[in-house]
Amino acid sequence: VTLLEQLRDQAAYCRGAGSALTADLLDGAAADVEAGGPAADLLAPHADDPRGTVVGLRLAGALHRLVLERRAPALAVHYPSVGGTPGDVWAAAREVVAEQPDVLAPVLQRPVQTNEVGRAAALYGGLLRLATRTDLPVRLLEVGASAGLNLRCDRFAYSLRAGVEIGDATSPVVLGRPWTGDLPRGWPTTTVVERRGCDLAPLDPTSAADRLTLSSYVWADQVDRFRRLAAAFTVAERVPAVVERATASDFLARELAVPRPGVLTVVWHSVVRQYLSAAERRAVDDRLAEAGTRATPGAPLARLSLEPQQVSSGQAFLVELTTWPTGRHEVLATARGHGPPVHWNPLDT
Ligand SMILES: C[S@@+](CC[C@H](N)C(=O)[O-])C[C@H]1O[C@@H](n2cnc3c(N)ncnc32)[C@H](O)[C@@H]1O
Repeated sequence: VTLLEQLRDQAAYCRGAGSALTADLLDGAAADVEAGGPAADLLAPHADDPRGTVVGLRLAGALHRLVLERRAPALAVHYPSVGGTPGDVWAAAREVVAEQPDVLAPVLQRPVQTNEVGRAAALYGGLLRLATRTDLPVRLLEVGASAGLNLRCDRFAYSLRAGVEIGDATSPVVLGRPWTGDLPRGWPTTTVVERRGCDLAPLDPTSAADRLTLSSYVWADQVDRFRRLAAAFTVAERVPAVVERATASDFLARELAVPRPGVLTVVWHSVVRQYLSAAERRAVDDRLAEAGTRATPGAPLARLSLEPQQVSSGQAFLVELTTWPTGRHEVLATARGHGPPVHWNPLDT
């Protein structure tokens, strides 16, 4: 796949996913590459980058970073994330590419890294489903946690309808109408007693530099996601959670080595599987299966995930749950890539 095709495919994807701004940027960049403009020079070293490294989104992130750093005022005019209004965004971006290639080039080397707060809607709903079956407090372990924002999912507000909020109703993070379908009955509560995660490249949600990185990869016209992320940074200041630098399999080998009585250990991951090598994926599955054999009713284990899956109608994001000691597997819900709305399947218990 050529660079041009990658940019155009990514533009079409972004348009379909509700970011006209990112789509316009990438269509503009593609036309500029074709015409031999400044984007052609900037992107030339990335002509053979694998498709999965999403060069278009790296370019969009690098430009957004300059906007957020107040280093591209004429481009910022078009960026809703800083109060701008979309217009001829590529014309302004082209100037930035022409004038600041040395600033953009090193940022283009970085992988896209996000931490999507909307996915907490799947995680928290899953924890509530579990809470209908056990009163045990939750020990939450997240692999591929990025900045660990969703380890604070119980400290976000879930606004079911006007005046009905569950989770932490006082939270600055509010997920509006996050759920449809067969919702948990009787609104069980859940208590998280431990929050711990790992990532190959953990980010610190209390540091200005890492906040900038996470913010820059949010599509700049998706203002709700952008605000939600900023609100989650303030929750992270109040609610500590450790995210250490480790592979998922090493982290689980250590954390699941001995059963932990008196708590429900929940291993959670969202949009991580596709980034793991086949060997790492198998190792993660094996660590969980082994720990499952050691689980007991007093020291139970659960794996909860939101991951894209091939289904008959194409790709869907499924919320899946496996619980031990029984080893029972369930597809709890279907969601969008960024979380809401999460549609819960009928309860069968
Ligand atoms: C698309 S991000 C998703 C982050 C977060 N789970 C979310 O939903 O916002 C994938 C994350 O997986 C991490 N990752 C990739 N391979 C990993 C591995 N073998 N072990 C731990 N983390 C890994 C990446 O560094 C990245 O932060």
